[in-house]
Amino acid sequence: MRTEDSSSTNTGALAPRHFDFVVVANRLPVDRVVDDDGALHWRRSPGGLVTALAPVMQEADGAWVGWHGASGETLDPFNHEGTDIIPVPLSEDDVEQYYEGFSNATLWPLYHDVTARPEFHRAWWDAYRRVNRRFAEAAARAAAPGATVWVQDYQLQLVPRLLRQIRPDLTIGFFNHIPFPPQEIFAQLPWRREVLEGLLGADLVGFQRSGDARNFVRAATRLTGASLSRVTPQLRTMVPRTQSLTVDPGLPTAHHCVAEAFPISIEVSQIEALARDPKVVDRARRIRFELGNPRTVLLGVDRLDYTKGIRHRLKAYEELLKDGDLTVEDACLIQVASPSREQVEEYRILREEIEGTVGHINGAFDTLGRTAVRYLHHSYPVEEMVALYLAADVMLITALKDGMNLVAKEYVTARVDNTGALVLSEFTGAADQLKQAFLVNPHDIDGLKSAILSATRVSRPEAARRMRSMRRQVTTHDVRGWSTAFLERLAGLAGQHQETPA
Ligand code: G6P
Repeated sequence: MRTEDSSSTNTGALAPRHFDFVVVANRLPVDRVVDDDGALHWRRSPGGLVTALAPVMQEADGAWVGWHGASGETLDPFNHEGTDIIPVPLSEDDVEQYYEGFSNATLWPLYHDVTARPEFHRAWWDAYRRVNRRFAEAAARAAAPGATVWVQDYQLQLVPRLLRQIRPDLTIGFFNHIPFPPQEIFAQLPWRREVLEGLLGADLVGFQRSGDARNFVRAATRLTGASLSRVTPQLRTMVPRTQSLTVDPGLPTAHHCVAEAFPISIEVSQIEALARDPKVVDRARRIRFELGNPRTVLLGVDRLDYTKGIRHRLKAYEELLKDGDLTVEDACLIQVASPSREQVEEYRILREEIEGTVGHINGAFDTLGRTAVRYLHHSYPVEEMVALYLAADVMLITALKDGMNLVAKEYVTARVDNTGALVLSEFTGAADQLKQAFLVNPHDIDGLKSAILSATRVSRPEAARRMRSMRRQVTTHDVRGWSTAFLERLAGLAGQHQETPA
């Protein structure tokens, strides 16, 4: 579709095309790759969101609005393998204050149950508002009349309302990939009302867990003019089990904002195919061989983030070695910690601490031929990840708080022969679905130790019973199902904002 731009509030050059479906996310679905000769290429980013939305983008004439990951550089829109990409520029100040600051040193810790202390700085908030407006304007320019816009994650919570103000004709969805905190914690945010009103601009706000949706509804009704609506018969048919909010009339069109849980998942077919690929299976064997074929390989895979409970995991493992319940002769822990947000102070401190602890454990327990912890501060391609999943008898996920944790879903999907055991924190979204895991409270070190031992010693039939049930859950709920469910619900709500609320 080719149409003239009609929005008068836009800034900058007009986008040459308008699209019926627009995704707005902090990151683009492609990564920059610079060749040895300096040429710039784009490669599709790994990850479920990109996979889930690729077919929708193709079918619905879609575009993706996002930041390309470098500061101070403005790029023209381009097409990558059939997807239209609309890059949003961020200056060095924007990166420091909107991304590293407000997104990752204010909202991230606040939304993860203050596992680190959130910092509140007015200059960061100003940058967050400024950058959210830039994303909203880029989306408004790109969207065709009556288009659907799907905004992603905590970096862009102001976009739904801004977008509705500029383009009341749009149907707007928002999905929060991380937890939404209890009202008592959220209320610390000096700009809590503006953030809630930003989200309330959407027709549908999706969360990972129903508890997150409840937290949002409670915060919105207590801290803004929104009230729980009397659910109209029409809305009840569309959203049978959800809570719906009537938004205060400060917005151009009165509308319902529906809050509901849509637990995200992974691309099951890709992980299963790799788990059955002889090259990957062989690589898994080699990994075990290189570790000296220990009886039990334990595995942790995380972004190096303080929410992941890596410290707690290492503490429990170290105590098991000290107690003699595990020895380096029969066990090895592989800890993959992928580099993340390295400019943010808390992440630097965490890295030093984790690396110090690993050095300390290895110094105490390694022998010349064996290591207690094989620590890898790298990211790996998905083939290597699946080989690691196949090599691991016990997967350790000990997050203190996690929106979902897709590693848990990838691990069970990769265990196509129903072997292996998953130790899983109850504070992850995945725990709602993977109930046959060895569920733990990672703060309870004794409980964590005994769960690790139970997982290490579980009988084959018991392990198979648990794994079969978890695999059934994930293989019947993959990421395509997630995006379809969200977008169908959103389509059902399209146009309802034209009506007078109940
Ligand atoms: C989490 C967030 C994503 C984010 C990712 C990586 O999964 O929900 O929005 O993209 O972490 O973090 P980064 O800061 O590198 O984008």
